[in-house]
Amino acid sequence: MGKTRLLKAGCSLAEARGLRVLGARGGELEREFPYGVVRQLFEPALGGADDDERADLLAGVAAFAAAVADPRGAPAGQIAATAGSEGGFAIQHGLYWLAANLGSRSPLLLAIDDLHWADAPSLRWLVYVLRRLTDLPVSVVVALRPPGREASGELAMRIASGPAGRVLRVEPLTEEGVAQVVARLLPGDGEPDAEFCRACREVTGGNPFLLESLLSELAAEGVGPAAGEAGRLRAIGPPAVARSVLVRIARLPASAGALARAVAVLGAGADLPVAAALARLDGDRAGDAADALGAADILLARRPLEFLHPILRTAVYEDSRSASATRRTHAPRRSWRGMERRPSASPATSSPPAREATRSRSRR
Ligand SMILES: Nc1ncnc2c1ncn2[C@@H]1O[C@H](COP(=O)(O)OP(=O)(O)OP(=O)(O)O)[C@@H](O)[C@H]1O
Ligand SMILES: [Mg+2]
Repeated sequence: MGKTRLLKAGCSLAEARGLRVLGARGGELEREFPYGVVRQLFEPALGGADDDERADLLAGVAAFAAAVADPRGAPAGQIAATAGSEGGFAIQHGLYWLAANLGSRSPLLLAIDDLHWADAPSLRWLVYVLRRLTDLPVSVVVALRPPGREASGELAMRIASGPAGRVLRVEPLTEEGVAQVVARLLPGDGEPDAEFCRACREVTGGNPFLLESLLSELAAEGVGPAAGEAGRLRAIGPPAVARSVLVRIARLPASAGALARAVAVLGAGADLPVAAALARLDGDRAGDAADALGAADILLARRPLEFLHPILRTAVYEDSRSASATRRTHAPRRSWRGMERRPSASPATSSPPAREATRSRSRR
């Protein structure tokens, strides 16, 4: 929580102090592309250089870096062929000298977000360069999730916690931090009520993503940051906060709910046709549903389909599992078909927390 935000704040500070910042981001679907992260780091610097500068930057051994870092350089297929071969070492060394040449012009910060999804050759290069950092006017800052399922997670973690590194663990927002976010997203007359902020912190655990989704839900319902609302917040409780997304889905056409459930089952990077088939939607309706989910900040506005945040996927997945368990127990197939025909009775609205949240809104 808050890693990307912290990384960006660090980059702004570095820029304000005269460092040149080169940024990159690991992508879950791009890990197979050798040097993808390195490319992101250096391409803008080389692409934006005129011919003389470019010749300077790629002088001597740095010329070997052109194969992977120069936008006017080798195509992707060729990079894949050299990445694992003996040419691999020359490239790594060339990239080191490219970083050194850039650093000799102005101190450099390499900022990499989502390092746990970086491709293996880029990670190996980072290991290589980190061991030699003391010789260079170059700093590296990375953000990553703790090691999990990703095969490269361990290597990424080693990079982050190596001898030259310092690890910052992003902690939940403090009460003061929560109060600042509340003041920004739920502006009322004067300071937000302290009891209300405490309740917000309790039900979100200080997770900024959950806090933002809770506050946008409250803003949409016209709830102000007043002491009187704290009890109601606590009554709703943490699970319902994650599930506020279900309320948002329930307001969309039924096809959006069906598509969201299909994407939750398929996981990150779901292809639209596959998700459409699972949701039993034709292409056009599935496309409209994906757009509606994108506009509601539930899916990322891109293909393949992916939830804005894993928490949203979990909430939708758990909800459709519990909804289908309820259907199995109480009302087999017949009523499921009936529900599918009635847009207002999508599984999202039939889950207990979503129903509770909908009811509490209709009471207002
Ligand atoms: N210190 C903070 N104050 C206010 N809002 C914050 C803070 N940190 C994060 N946020 C907000 O919380 C949300 C999630 O933060 P962020 O994207 O930085 O998380 P992350 O750790 O990078 O998550 P992921 O693991 O999904 O990449 C964003 O909307 C961000 O603006
Ligand atoms: Mg992030």
